[in-house]
Amino acid sequence: MADIKRIGRWLLMKHCLVCKSSKLKTFLSLGPVPLANALLTEDQLEEGELFYPLDVYFCLNCNHVGISNIIPPEKLFKNYFYMTSMSKTMLENLKGLVADAENYIKKGKAPFVVDIGSNDGTLLKLFKANSANVLGVEPATNIAKIAEQDGIPTLNVFFNEESSHTIVKKHGKPSVITATNVFAHVADLDGFMKGVVNLLDENGVFIFENAYLLDLIQHTEFDTIYHEHLCYYAIRPLIVLFNRFGLDIVDAKRIPIHGGSIRVFVKKKGTTKPSQNVIDLIALEKKNKLDDIKTYTKFADDVKKIRKELWTLLEKIKSEGKHIVGYGATAKSTTLLNYCRIGTDFIDYITDSTPLKQNKFSPGMHIPIKSPDVLREKRPDYILLLAWNFADEIIKKEQWFTEAGGHFIKPIPKPGIIKQMD
Ligand code: TYD
Ligand code: ZN
Repeated sequence: MADIKRIGRWLLMKHCLVCKSSKLKTFLSLGPVPLANALLTEDQLEEGELFYPLDVYFCLNCNHVGISNIIPPEKLFKNYFYMTSMSKTMLENLKGLVADAENYIKKGKAPFVVDIGSNDGTLLKLFKANSANVLGVEPATNIAKIAEQDGIPTLNVFFNEESSHTIVKKHGKPSVITATNVFAHVADLDGFMKGVVNLLDENGVFIFENAYLLDLIQHTEFDTIYHEHLCYYAIRPLIVLFNRFGLDIVDAKRIPIHGGSIRVFVKKKGTTKPSQNVIDLIALEKKNKLDDIKTYTKFADDVKKIRKELWTLLEKIKSEGKHIVGYGATAKSTTLLNYCRIGTDFIDYITDSTPLKQNKFSPGMHIPIKSPDVLREKRPDYILLLAWNFADEIIKKEQWFTEAGGHFIKPIPKPGIIKQMD
């Protein structure tokens, strides 16, 4: 394969998104990689694709961690393949969010809930079942349509200050705003925050979920780093961010979804005192030195080690003439496979249950994506878990595979064969 990569246009992040400081220190470079969700059709394989640098910074001022290379948002979200409803684990997690939201909802009155980045409407369906009035905001046209067809009113726009005014005018102010796994995607964070402040009812709550920086560092989840994820949040820098907009974190908790996330509850200043959970999480972040650049340089060393170990493992398996396939055509697999240079010489194909992803090819490494049915037709010897965040669900679902003598491989935090099920 010719190794000349066409580099696409991007902007350099010169100031920390959270505190605006220019004291940024790059500690990791994973590129060049293509955009994580830019799956290719067979025709597009011939056309070639664009690659981008993927550098990660640490803000020496507020200790925020983010991506240095900004891709224009319209390039990222025109068509989006991920659908929330595809995973049972996700559904259970969202039920937990709805239950937590109950603590903030006045009894006896149907609340108005706006979900930002509402995807296929899965979360809003749960709120609706609890008799809430709901409205989704979803920039991906294909997914917004699916939600509408399922009876969830959905605005097909980017959420920002301007669209927040449109919502207030037409629908009024919600007492609950939710955003699951979208907060890290926002390039115009100030515009987004102004939108939240404008939209939120005076006594309302903004609840968001996001991957947690502490889990990313502790489990070396470097593949969750890609251009769509501009920010890797911890509580301390988040407090700095919300302060700028007259908001307080009133509660926060760790949740297991997506390799370790946080669910954060935010209200307008002066309405509620921060809980003990918030204080405990700040102490935990300090204890784990999330404020020290050395933590991040060590992380970068660990990432290099994973690349080397994964190569060695896959090479050994291939030298025995065995077959390996990937499980889950995830966004994070784009970082993992491109950074580790794992292509069809190692992986026959990637299986994914999302119909929109099937019969396409993985970005950069061009591994074909197939329906899980193919797994049973010709059983591989090894499955590399690219959707390792759903490992339990997948291993359970594909129990027949291990029973027939197959093995699962986990790529992180230490590449290896999963010995036995719990
Ligand atoms: P996700 O974990 O959200 O990863 P990312 O944010 O990195 O894209 O995506 C999970 C992918 O795995 C999604 O494409 C659906 C697929 N998947 C399966 O194919 N089978 C399964 O049983 C599960 C749980 C997921
Ligand atoms: Zn900062």
